[in-house]
Amino acid sequence: MKNIANFATSSLLVSVASAQVVQWDIQRRGGPAPRLSRRADGSVEEVITNEKTRGGYFATCSVGTPAQDLTLQLDTGSSDIWVPANSASVCESSLEGEGCTLGSYDYASSSTSEVINQEFKISYVDGSYSQGDYISETFGIGNVKLENMTMGLGLDTDIAYGLVGVGYALNEASVSQTRELYNNLPIVMRDEGHIATNAYSLWLNDLDASKGNILFGGIDTDKYMGDLIRVSIQQDSQTENFTSFQVQLTSLEAHSSSGDDALSSSSFPIPVVLDSGTTFSYLPQDLAEEVWREVGAEYTIVANDGSGVPLISCDLADSKGYFSFGFGGDGGPVIKVGMDELVIPSGTLNGQAVCQFGIQNFSGDPFLLGDTFLRSAYVVYDLENNEIGLAPTDFNATTSKIVAFPSQGAQIPSSTPAPSQDAANSGPSSAPNYSASKGFKDLSSSGSSGSGGSGSSGGSDGPDSAGSLAPALDFTQLIVMGASLGLMMFGSGMFLLF
Ligand SMILES: *[C@@H]1O[C@H](CO)[C@@H](O)[C@H](O)[C@H]1NC(C)=O
Ligand SMILES: *[C@@H]1O[C@H](CO)[C@@H](O)[C@H](O)[C@H]1NC(C)=O
Ligand SMILES: *[C@@H]1O[C@H](CO)[C@@H](O)[C@H](O)[C@H]1NC(C)=O
Ligand SMILES: *[C@@H]1O[C@H](CO)[C@@H](O)[C@H](O)[C@H]1NC(C)=O
Ligand SMILES: *[C@@H]1O[C@H](CO)[C@@H](O)[C@H](O)[C@H]1NC(C)=O
Repeated sequence: MKNIANFATSSLLVSVASAQVVQWDIQRRGGPAPRLSRRADGSVEEVITNEKTRGGYFATCSVGTPAQDLTLQLDTGSSDIWVPANSASVCESSLEGEGCTLGSYDYASSSTSEVINQEFKISYVDGSYSQGDYISETFGIGNVKLENMTMGLGLDTDIAYGLVGVGYALNEASVSQTRELYNNLPIVMRDEGHIATNAYSLWLNDLDASKGNILFGGIDTDKYMGDLIRVSIQQDSQTENFTSFQVQLTSLEAHSSSGDDALSSSSFPIPVVLDSGTTFSYLPQDLAEEVWREVGAEYTIVANDGSGVPLISCDLADSKGYFSFGFGGDGGPVIKVGMDELVIPSGTLNGQAVCQFGIQNFSGDPFLLGDTFLRSAYVVYDLENNEIGLAPTDFNATTSKIVAFPSQGAQIPSSTPAPSQDAANSGPSSAPNYSASKGFKDLSSSGSSGSGGSGSSGGSDGPDSAGSLAPALDFTQLIVMGASLGLMMFGSGMFLLF
């Protein structure tokens, strides 16, 4: 799924409300430091570039014969690969910053292209869309070529780059059009023997790092801390099919030097989709508001249509405070997300840095945990057993210790199940009784001195040093990434894509 917060830069009516005072310890982060080194044995390398506000993780792929290079967004929230056609009007603009700067695909100049049908049509949560044909084509990631890969050809689209959806086949766009399923990327990789099972691990690394990686068919035990704990993926409540990476968020706590707060919501346990294609995270209104109160974020109207976002002082990126997201009930995985990962530089306004807060509100299903959450977690997606393994990421990891899934259907290596998730999943009545054990303390109002809403330079190492508030999908900010393509097979079967 793509970003929901999509507002025009030109229509800002920003009134940066003075943020409340927040009493979290301040610690300045160092500048961006890529913490990922090339694997010593030279295994693999594909760059997924982290573009802070605009969001998204991209990888370079090749399509067709001879190969045409395109940089595509990796998306766990959808299940089709699609590429923009060079003839799509969105690609034809020659205005600076417009056009398909990440590459577009010329069907006619490929000798391996074949149209399957005209039924490709996909739309994303933010209202953007792509439609055209389903084609069969050669698809290359690094030195692996998959022939006859089914993918969408975006003849008519308002998105200037393509996507690689790696979700469940049942979530393919074709299902709603023709009710037909096809083997999508991870299934083809498995069926062609490149990996043993349909599973992959995602390590996004932190906000200041430019690279993360996705490892198909294995886990990297050097990229997380503690143990991987497995939780069940939830079925679609209507069809009882597995269609998205939805898990149960069962607790959320705020921690700072001034104390700890267990936050409450009438919605616990909250079904949340772990979605790498979404930049921010979206929680129910009551919970989002509590979170904003904790940190002093102010919901602020930023566009003429009345839509807004929570803004926060950029200085708070230096706070040592953090939130703990708990899944699968007692004993389940707990992921700490620091303020440094949640204060997102979004450009400047009147010379002042402006930051959005990484947890936003949304009116209903699906609630989403996007990149502002995912960077803090090492996430293993096991589509065969319908489980997700979670552990706190190791932001500073520079080494690798890769363990492949040994066989199709094997469980996530080195993982244990969340012990009480069945109880936690059975309904709201079994949600933890927060008010019993912990008092509420509104951190943002217990402080004294204020930094106002004019975060001066906390996020100054962001990419948006000029211009007004950068929207989440600001195509003018697109940077063509010098993604060094090169993916290698490792051992008997997995891929590491950085
Ligand atoms: C791809 O499709 C063509 C035509 O249907 C077929 O001849 C070829 O064997 C297929 N290749 C693979 C790898 O399946
Ligand atoms: C999805 O769910 C529907 C309704 O329960 C069912 O009829 C259908 O067979 C399921 N689809 C698959 C591919 O299992
Ligand atoms: C988010 O919260 C604000 C402030 O309460 C509200 O005005 C807005 O409608 C909410 N947005 C959504 C999508 O629910
Ligand atoms: C990671 O590196 C940063 C910067 O060098 C350091 O401040 C931090 O303590 C390290 N974190 C861990 C968990 O080692
Ligand atoms: C939660 O704890 C409070 C205080 O002990 C108690 O009064 C209340 O009944 C409990 N609620 C539930 C749902 O157990």
